[in-house]
Amino acid sequence: MLSSTIRGPVLVTGGAGFIGSHVCKALAEAGLQPLCLDTLEKGHEWAVRWGSLVKGDVGDGRFVEEVFVRHKPSVVVHLAGYIEVGESVANPERYMVNNSAKSRVLIGAAIRHKVQAFVFSSTCSVYGLPQADRLEEEHKIAPLNPYAISKASVERALDEAAWRGLRSASLRYFNAAGADPGGEIGEAHEPETHLLPLAVDAALGLRDALVVHGEDYPTEDGSCVRDFVHVSDLAQAHVSAVQWLMRQKARGRHDVFNLGSGNGYSVKQVVDQVGRMVGRPVPHVFGARRPGDSPVLVGSIAKAERELGWMPTRDLEAQIEDALRWRRAMIR
Ligand SMILES: NC(=O)c1ccc[n+]([C@@H]2O[C@H](COP(=O)([O-])OP(=O)(O)OC[C@H]3O[C@@H](n4cnc5c(N)ncnc54)[C@H](O)[C@@H]3O)[C@@H](O)[C@H]2O)c1
Repeated sequence: MLSSTIRGPVLVTGGAGFIGSHVCKALAEAGLQPLCLDTLEKGHEWAVRWGSLVKGDVGDGRFVEEVFVRHKPSVVVHLAGYIEVGESVANPERYMVNNSAKSRVLIGAAIRHKVQAFVFSSTCSVYGLPQADRLEEEHKIAPLNPYAISKASVERALDEAAWRGLRSASLRYFNAAGADPGGEIGEAHEPETHLLPLAVDAALGLRDALVVHGEDYPTEDGSCVRDFVHVSDLAQAHVSAVQWLMRQKARGRHDVFNLGSGNGYSVKQVVDQVGRMVGRPVPHVFGARRPGDSPVLVGSIAKAERELGWMPTRDLEAQIEDALRWRRAMIR
């Protein structure tokens, strides 16, 4: 039982955000006690439903120290960060500070307080331009934009932290999509930049036409190909990663895992599927390529299956169905 081997709460930074709130639910369902640390700059208080909230910044050393002294978390799941690739291209400094430098403050505290396990939200975009059909973790790291650079730098900091006794796992998410199948939480980014909620909203008439960025990529239909993974499957992988880290004997180590579905869908295919499921076509127009976008990003998830014993259980249709249900409930 995971709950009998873990002392104290699990500190979930960014726990008021889209993925973090689903992680809190999965941890609570595994018998653990999430404690959400979030500025609420991008997240929502309504999404903190499992465990309590400490409001503050992961880069505020004094505040983070107080949280460790007061709550004594022995596991950290670090999701806090900015997530917009386009914004990172326009303002790289903002990403280097918030995602990179501030993570080092948290990692320092985790080392000093001897946490048992540290899980970090990384991204498939650290791979840059893929040199293989299915990206494996050994693929070279060549980030194409400041967002991805900021994430790769945290992975490097965790490599270093292993020498200081920290056991950590970086989870390289592909595209998180869907919503809690129980309808309790879901995606509510502002601004929204993710394909599925944008397509759903356009189909429901809640936004203007969706812009498909680029139709001249070297892919079958010219639009980008991505690997979509249901957010609740993704959340479950964090529980598996904590379990895996608790089993490790080495004093310190850092390992990386891809988390996706292992299947690629083009943007056009997703748009068509959303249209079919809503019952009317998604209004869309074609725009220019976005700087920093890779044509194809599809992951091999063999390592996560083998080592973490994790496998996604919900396909693209389930992701669209749950996203639709969530969005319809939001506007009711
Ligand atoms: N959504 C995806 O498809 C995806 C893909 C790859 C990686 N990721 C990573 O997963 C994590 C979560 O993504 P999300 O989609 O849930 O984003 P989100 O914006 O919904 O959640 C991020 C949360 O972090 C909080 N936050 C930001 N900076 C903070 C700081 N300095 N201190 C404390 N809280 C802070 C925000 O208020 C927000 O609640 C991010 O680190 C993101 O880079 C997401």
